[in-house]
Amino acid sequence: MYFGADYYPEEWPRQRWHEDAHLMADAGFNVVRLGELAWALLEPEPGRYDFSWLDDAVALLHEHGISTIMGTPTTTAPPWMVDLDPDVLRVDENGQRMVYGSWGNFCLNSPAFRLRSAIIARAMARHYGGNEAVIAWQIDNEFGVFDRARCYCERCAEAFRKWLRERYGSLAALNKAWGTSFWSHIYTRWEQIPIPRRTHTKHNPGLLLDYARFCSETTRSYLQLQAGVVREEAPRQPLTHNFLAAAYTHLDLFALAAELDVAGWDNYVPNARWVDAALSHELFRSLKRQPFWVLEQQCSYPQWPPYANLERGLARLLTYQGVAHGADGILYFRWRTGLIGAEQYHAGILPHDGRPGRVYEEIRTIGQELRQLEPLLAGALPRAQVACIVDYDSLWALEFQPHNDSLGDPWSYHRPWYRALRLQHLACDFVQPAGDLSPYRLIIAPALAVVSEEAVRNLRSFVENGGVLVLTVRSGSKDVHSRMVDKPLPGLLAPLAGATVREFDSRPAGAEVAIRFTAEEWAEEEARAALWFELLEPEGASVVARYGSGLYEGGAAVTWQPVGRGGVLYVGCLGDEVSERLLPALLRRSGVRAPVAIAAPEQVEVAIREGPAGRAVFLLNHSDAAREAHLQGPGEDALTGERLNGEVVLGPYGVRVLRM
Ligand code: GLA
Ligand code: ZN
Repeated sequence: MYFGADYYPEEWPRQRWHEDAHLMADAGFNVVRLGELAWALLEPEPGRYDFSWLDDAVALLHEHGISTIMGTPTTTAPPWMVDLDPDVLRVDENGQRMVYGSWGNFCLNSPAFRLRSAIIARAMARHYGGNEAVIAWQIDNEFGVFDRARCYCERCAEAFRKWLRERYGSLAALNKAWGTSFWSHIYTRWEQIPIPRRTHTKHNPGLLLDYARFCSETTRSYLQLQAGVVREEAPRQPLTHNFLAAAYTHLDLFALAAELDVAGWDNYVPNARWVDAALSHELFRSLKRQPFWVLEQQCSYPQWPPYANLERGLARLLTYQGVAHGADGILYFRWRTGLIGAEQYHAGILPHDGRPGRVYEEIRTIGQELRQLEPLLAGALPRAQVACIVDYDSLWALEFQPHNDSLGDPWSYHRPWYRALRLQHLACDFVQPAGDLSPYRLIIAPALAVVSEEAVRNLRSFVENGGVLVLTVRSGSKDVHSRMVDKPLPGLLAPLAGATVREFDSRPAGAEVAIRFTAEEWAEEEARAALWFELLEPEGASVVARYGSGLYEGGAAVTWQPVGRGGVLYVGCLGDEVSERLLPALLRRSGVRAPVAIAAPEQVEVAIREGPAGRAVFLLNHSDAAREAHLQGPGEDALTGERLNGEVVLGPYGVRVLRM
């Protein structure tokens, strides 16, 4: 387990480094991340390097038992980069070029930027490739933040047209694919195709979807460029990157993670949305089906609203939540709150004055605990029998056409299902539509709008072999060019569903409609649905629930069709209650059971890692009041040794790790 912080020795006098290293070691740190913001100090002018200060920091920390994850510093290009390419700065959706300043606002298609990025990455990797204190590389920093993956400059427009040319071969093919006869957009020269800057109403959905793909591929190729040179010079050190939470959808995380050895993310999710943090942890575990790292873990007050400090115990809770879902590296952002620069109001473990205090003590306790838990956690991971399908084409298609203000975040379709699974204490993997589904018994494919024949084959064979599949609203509605399909929905998935969508209706938040289940084996109580309603017509499937009121009163809302040894549930509406009510029946039908039986209130998360030393059961109280959980079987508190059965009390934001 790696445990540490993001450290900026360049901001502090050398005489302080010793004390920092000492305090870190005392807090149980074995790793820091260095270098990712320091390009100007490492290469003050093009081709002139100074690694001496960083060498000294790496060595000093190593003497204290602390290794380094080295960041390539390419999000913080020095001013000289603008001298080399005045157009290196990103252009936003309004066509406005950024001014120099801030960070990460560079065009990833700038040849000069790509060249200089590769040069600094190579120079660093050559320098540190053989250094045993450097245990991994973080390439760049937070791809995809602040819209940085989507540049709208002229050069990107040209590159986009070239990309389209390779994809479509001819304008005739492109015009046909995008359906450009609508609004007379028929292109007769490639140069006419716009990059989708702001216009007073909408762009063509085919153009937007291709632009999203192009942008994600641009970032991927930029990552690939750096990863390639670092691997050449430093073949023994694994590569990682600190992405943002799942909700940042500009990048196809599966494609980008394929370039890396360890998936990583930055966890700044506020506590009120602990289910979202859990979802991101599980997504990052799923990207490589391996333990992942949290490269920036919030530990105190952030520099954005609500600006508020974390409550006592919350840094510990957030840390354990990551560990519970399979993180085997946690680094806090940042070691000490800065005295200089734009982030003076973003707190680290140590306050401005450098005196260890409340946060440091909390982190130090976690460090001791994690060392104690090491034998139990070694080789242990959550074992998911359930997976949710994630498809970036579908997320993008729905991002551009939410058709409902409350569905602007395309993860909205996943969230109710993920939440229901989490409340049942079940681990959930995320997998692509054509991915390996064999480890799972239950697959949930929320709003799989863009669906390929290959995906349909994969889902069909999963179901025929005994799996249970859940399809939901808007599935199968789009082709790969984001055109609506001409078949009854769910399009290519209709034969699996055994039902088609007669009509759909989207209503603003608050307009709720109850659905009633036709049999108690599905659910006893009715459920409130909201936002999106589909009127289903069974074609072989049986009706599981009907609308109790509204436009489709009496019509089918949910259907079930047995297929092969398994079956398919089509859920034509949305809502936390809908997912919550249906899940138990789905678990029974698919034979999925939580590995341990624990009754816990909604705010107490239960997550389980299983490994050679047994089960580590994490009880995580996400509320600010004490809560009780109820074990149905004996366990032992892995930290205190206390033997437990029945009632277990958790303090506000309290955590217990049980061996069961
Ligand atoms: C991001 C960046 C960090 C820092 C933090 C806090 O995650 O990667 O460099 O800016 O946010 O603002
Ligand atoms: Zn650009």
